Amino acid sequence: MRNVTRTDEWMISVRAKEAARPDAIITDPAAISLAHIGNVTNVALQYSHSAVILRRRFGDDVIAESTSRGVRQAVSLGAGSDTRAYTSALPGEFKYFEIDFPGQTAIKRSLLATAGINPYCKLITVEQDLRKPAWIQALLNSGFRCDLPTVWLAEGLFYFFTRSELCLLMRQITALSSHGSRLSFDIGDADFCTAPQTALLRQLVARRGVRYREGMGDPKGWLAPFGWHTHAYHADDICADRCSWLHATPKRLKKELDCTWFVRACRPSSPVECCECP
Ligand SMILES: C[S@@+](CC[C@H](N)C(=O)[O-])C[C@H]1O[C@@H](n2cnc3c(N)ncnc32)[C@H](O)[C@@H]1O
Repeated sequence: MRNVTRTDEWMISVRAKEAARPDAIITDPAAISLAHIGNVTNVALQYSHSAVILRRRFGDDVIAESTSRGVRQAVSLGAGSDTRAYTSALPGEFKYFEIDFPGQTAIKRSLLATAGINPYCKLITVEQDLRKPAWIQALLNSGFRCDLPTVWLAEGLFYFFTRSELCLLMRQITALSSHGSRLSFDIGDADFCTAPQTALLRQLVARRGVRYREGMGDPKGWLAPFGWHTHAYHADDICADRCSWLHATPKRLKKELDCTWFVRACRPSSPVECCECP
């Protein structure tokens, strides 16, 4: 198994822990039922990992906004333990594509099926390495329509890509995105790989044989030449309640929330249309 895939059961445990709280900001019954699969150390779970919870919430909000506009397909890049297809919020005809390395999502699917938990929408698995161009044809062959608007989700993925790998991926995503498409992702800031605040996280990840590649100082500026209209909030904005996506972020989620960007972008259908400007 590639080391990068070993971060997955950790993510599911974090989401399960949050979703089980009475004051949870995410709904994830499937994660709760999968929480036992992981071999996650207490140290990893003690680390608050707010970014995992917040990105899920932000992604859910983008999906909800898009489905209300009639969008009927989403692609989860580096899907891993993503359980969104198993929540009742998605319409039955919605196509939810999950892309990850071969075999990476299989355990999740089989454990959930054994537990009698089935996707609410059409869940389609595409087993590919996103650094290799073959993923595009594989996605198209599996029923993806590039003439329809899409929600692209890259949750916990871009940390593992170099800037040149990210630029290539973004060119490919853009070529497959019709107007009205949306993109939601999180990524480390320019200090992410060196800041003392992320040292424990980097250490925990390194123990799994994984290395974060590089962060980004200005995601909005990075996306502009690709033709995306972007809104980005830094962890500092969220901690200071300057994020209009989630008013008054719970205090417990501000703990250890550092050096991360949460980004939402759209391919406008018209010059005035934007995901934040109704
Ligand atoms: C930290 S996990 C995040 C999983 C899930 N999206 C979430 O938010 O819980 C990162 C996922 O990205 C996948 N991944 C990393 N590099 C990849 C690549 N080059 N191609 C496809 N998947 C990749 C890993 O296998 C893993 O499942």
